[in-house]
Amino acid sequence: MEQLIKNPSTDKLVDEPIVTKYLQERWSPRSFSKEPIAPTDLRRIFEAGATAMSSFNEQPWNIILTHKGDPTYEKLFHCLSEYNQEWVHFAPVLGAVIAKKYFTKSRKENRHRFYDSGAFMAYASLQASELGYQIHQMAGFSPGKLMMDLKIPHVYEAATMFVIGKPDSPEKLPVNLRKQEQEEQTRKEVSSFIFADKWGDPYHFDE
Ligand SMILES: Cc1cc2nc3c(=O)[nH]c(=O)nc-3n(C[C@H](O)[C@H](O)[C@H](O)COP(=O)(O)O)c2cc1C
Repeated sequence: MEQLIKNPSTDKLVDEPIVTKYLQERWSPRSFSKEPIAPTDLRRIFEAGATAMSSFNEQPWNIILTHKGDPTYEKLFHCLSEYNQEWVHFAPVLGAVIAKKYFTKSRKENRHRFYDSGAFMAYASLQASELGYQIHQMAGFSPGKLMMDLKIPHVYEAATMFVIGKPDSPEKLPVNLRKQEQEEQTRKEVSSFIFADKWGDPYHFDE
């Protein structure tokens, strides 16, 4: 029998690795409850992100975090594509990931700035999921407008935007988004992208 382990957040005993559970529970909803997010939860979400690995430990990620009603929320909201504006207004928190383009020490270009910022957001997303929230990231926005309207220095670059909130009923969404909300997001079979000796030859996991 598998050993039960204690989930540090809930004190419940679980019989599978906690990370697997939250990998399975993470998703990108479009319908969110208006409920504000406790500051302690927001801190925990981003502290989890901050444990991510990064090239030369540069930690190139920077985050703009706004709450619905803030003047900066409005500025960010207007950087989003029309499609994303249709549902983003449901979520209580809107943010942007801004990556530093250069390594602080060597001043050389950091080619891994988006890659590392993605790891940050992946970890933050898992922590959010553990706390009962979900993060939905977005590429559908104008990075140029965001950089200009928020007066961000050009040593930085806008990577993605995101919302955080508690998922709510799909019934709240406009009809065109409702169906999408309930569709299962499929994943590629691992053997279709893991190769062995020759490019395109699937790696065989001998179990
Ligand atoms: C970098 C990035 C950009 C994305 N851009 C958008 C977007 O602009 N609009 C949107 O509705 N979803 C966006 N998504 C969400 C993806 O569509 C979603 O993650 C994918 O369909 C897998 O679904 P899941 O996150 O529920 O597993 C984005 C996700 C990522 C990671």
